[in-house]
Formats: sequence, C-alpha cells, structure tokens
Amino acid sequence: MAKLIITIDGPAASGKSTVARLLAEKLGASFLDTGAMYRAVTLAAIRANVDMTDEDDLLEVMATTEFQFSAGQGKMAVCIDGIDVTEQIRQPQVTASARHVAASAKLREKLVEMQRQFAAGEEKIVTEGRDQGTVAFPNADMKFYLTADPSERARRRQAELRAKGDIESLEQIQGAIEQRDKSDEGRAAGPLRPANDAIVVDTTDLSVEEVVARLLRCVEEKCQTKD
Ligand code: DC
Repeated sequence: MAKLIITIDGPAASGKSTVARLLAEKLGASFLDTGAMYRAVTLAAIRANVDMTDEDDLLEVMATTEFQFSAGQGKMAVCIDGIDVTEQIRQPQVTASARHVAASAKLREKLVEMQRQFAAGEEKIVTEGRDQGTVAFPNADMKFYLTADPSERARRRQAELRAKGDIESLEQIQGAIEQRDKSDEGRAAGPLRPANDAIVVDTTDLSVEEVVARLLRCVEEKCQTKD
C-alpha cells in the first residue's frame, strides 16, 4: 500500500480533478481519477449495446473487457481493449449514463479493488472520486471533501465546455449537475458523503490555486505533526 494516501471526494464539477492533479504534482504523488474508471465501464457497456440497468449485463461487460488506467500527462489515460479512449469517456452520453454503473454494488466492489491495487503500486497517491475516503481508503492519511454551490459548479462546467467548443445553457448544465448530485447522494452503495474525518472545503469563492494552497497547507501541517 502507498505510504501516503490522500483522498478528495465531492460532487460533480466541484473541481476535484484539477485540484487533485495539481496537489499530486506538488507532492510528487500519483494521481488517480476514479470517475474515469466508472466512465470507462460505461463507455464499454454503451458500445456493447447492453441494458444499462441490468447489473448482470454490466458485470459481463466488465469481465470480458480489458481496461487499462495509467497516470498520463495531466489526466488519466484510459484504454479499452488496447485502444485509447481518454477523450471518448468524457462524451455527454457517457456522463449521463455513468450513474447506472455507479449504482451497482457489485461493480463498485470490483472498481474499489482495482483502486486499491493501483494504490498498492505507488509510493504516494492522491485519489479523487465520491467514495475514496469513506469506502476505498478509510485509513487514508488525509481526507478532503470539496464542495461548491450548484450555480458556481454549473458556471465552471460551462466554461470547460466552451473551451471545447460546446455551447450549453447554464440552466441546462445546473439541472444536470443537480440530478447527478441526487443520484450520487441517494445510492445505497458508496453514496457521496464526506467521511467523518474529512476536511470539508467550500470552494465557491476560491480559485483553484487557493484551494490547492489550502490543501497543501493541511497536508504539510499533518506531516509535521507525524514527524
Ligand atoms: O467524477 P466524474 O464525473 O468523472 O464521475 C463519473 C461518474 O462516476 C459519476 O456518475 C459518479 C461516478 N463515480 C462514483 O460513483 N464513484 C467514484 N469514486 C467516482 C465516480
């Protein structure tokens, strides 16, 4: 198991990925984007044309597909059966359907196992998702929970989409975000919630740099008290 495990959980578009990546860079740690795993299984299921609400079908897809996750430049590189799908897993259809994969307790168990295996091979790791501090790594050295107002998260997601040339209204984006919050918080397995020992950071009025600096300070303080 890695010597330093930092978990960052939080709702959709709360800035977890960017912050986790930058924090990992500063700490010389590996970065694990667990949402990319749920997205990869979702894309494989869409391509296999299975019933997304049938857990057995989803498990079959998982068992018959080869997934590869590696810490690429700036983001997790993902391959399905040897083909790079790093960009494709971000398509809106995948985003919308991932909740079915996320709702399956059996699939979650398998993905959590893969996450722990990934961590086992690393010296230091910053891992982000919805259940990293609560389920995957309950004994993590440091746990954070990032949140922000839905309207601010919608604004950030809109800017991200604009940069890719996609135009969507704020109302539409905020509606989709609130729907994802509901489904992330409401599922029985690995629901989205802060771990009891997580530091909760509301990022609504903070820049990415400010959030990273705050998290880094917490990690440094913790490391000092450990020494
Ligand atoms: O963070 P993201 O938007 O890339 O996540 C994609 C989907 O995976 C989303 O529906 C939430 C789900 N997810 C999860 O259930 N547990 C995780 N640890 C990470 C993501």
